[in-house]
Amino acid sequence: METSKIAIIGGRGRMGAWFAKYFKNKNYSVILSARNREKLIATAERLGVKHAENNMEAVKKADLVMISVPISSTAGVIMELAPYIDKKSTVFDIASVKGEIPKTLEEQSLKYGFKAVSVHPMFGPGATNLMGHTVVIIPIPGSEGAAEKLGKVFSDDGAVVVSTNSQTHDRMINSVLSLPHFLNILFGSALLEIPDPLPRIKEFSGTTFELQLLLTECVFGEDPELYSEIQMRNKEFLKFLNKMEKIFGELKRVIEKNEKTEFSKNFERIREKLKQDAGYENAYDRFYQIIKIMKNSK
Ligand SMILES: NC(=O)c1ccc[n+]([C@@H]2O[C@H](COP(=O)([O-])OP(=O)(O)OC[C@H]3O[C@@H](n4cnc5c(N)ncnc54)[C@H](OP(=O)(O)O)[C@@H]3O)[C@@H](O)[C@H]2O)c1
Repeated sequence: METSKIAIIGGRGRMGAWFAKYFKNKNYSVILSARNREKLIATAERLGVKHAENNMEAVKKADLVMISVPISSTAGVIMELAPYIDKKSTVFDIASVKGEIPKTLEEQSLKYGFKAVSVHPMFGPGATNLMGHTVVIIPIPGSEGAAEKLGKVFSDDGAVVVSTNSQTHDRMINSVLSLPHFLNILFGSALLEIPDPLPRIKEFSGTTFELQLLLTECVFGEDPELYSEIQMRNKEFLKFLNKMEKIFGELKRVIEKNEKTEFSKNFERIREKLKQDAGYENAYDRFYQIIKIMKNSK
């Protein structure tokens, strides 16, 4: 049987290298491209895959072309490469915020005759494999069959494949990435306002602070470039920030004015929303299980 070929543009990056390993293990012939030659060659050698002279060379005769460059460069790279992509190829991006990317894929794939899918793996390069991880797939008009085929590749390896459209994707990303990241950036920024050093604060810390700090430390272990794009390029989040400002002002007012009834009413409304989550009932027990693991792993 002929080996399938995948070209990974941005292949020396974190997700590019992860998928290079993934597709190599599935017996694909993998070729990487990126602009920094030295780092590209080092990554390709480390992973035991090929590297191309440039993006155009990489996509020649590829069955799959994966675009794994920063979110802000993704649409541009697709447009630049589109005329060089084989008609039998399926092109897919993995950007965390979609914006104009699915539209660009649609226009370019219709113009040049290749197939296109927009994909968002909901995990980072620390994942061991696809088992149990969510992969969001946005089918592109004219390429629906390719979306199904690619989704099957991932679901066969244990991924939970969720199909949606671009607007819903970015609205959900507002909830699951942009907003939680923002809240942790807010917490990190607040820590800067507190003059005591962290080890001193931790001497007094209870369980809530320990878990919150762990979450914030993880966020700040990530790449500021990627995280800035998840904040700044999601139009849904930019709209949502105005709501956040209103919520902040209202909470501040309730606290400053000592409006306990108002505070409790709001608390109850939030509790009702949280009860929609099946995990709400035993949240407190699970919280203490995590704290126990944290204490044992120190
Ligand atoms: N990291 C995550 O947890 C995660 C999770 C899900 C999805 N994603 C998405 O995956 C994509 C890549 O993220 P990442 O974290 O892997 O970023 P990354 O580590 O910064 O990798 C991006 C790579 O793209 C290369 N690149 C930039 N412009 C290029 C161009 N014009 N042509 C070819 N290569 C180019 C860069 O190498 P050179 O500078 O050498 O060109 C870089 O190594 C993003 O769209 C992100 O939203 C990331």
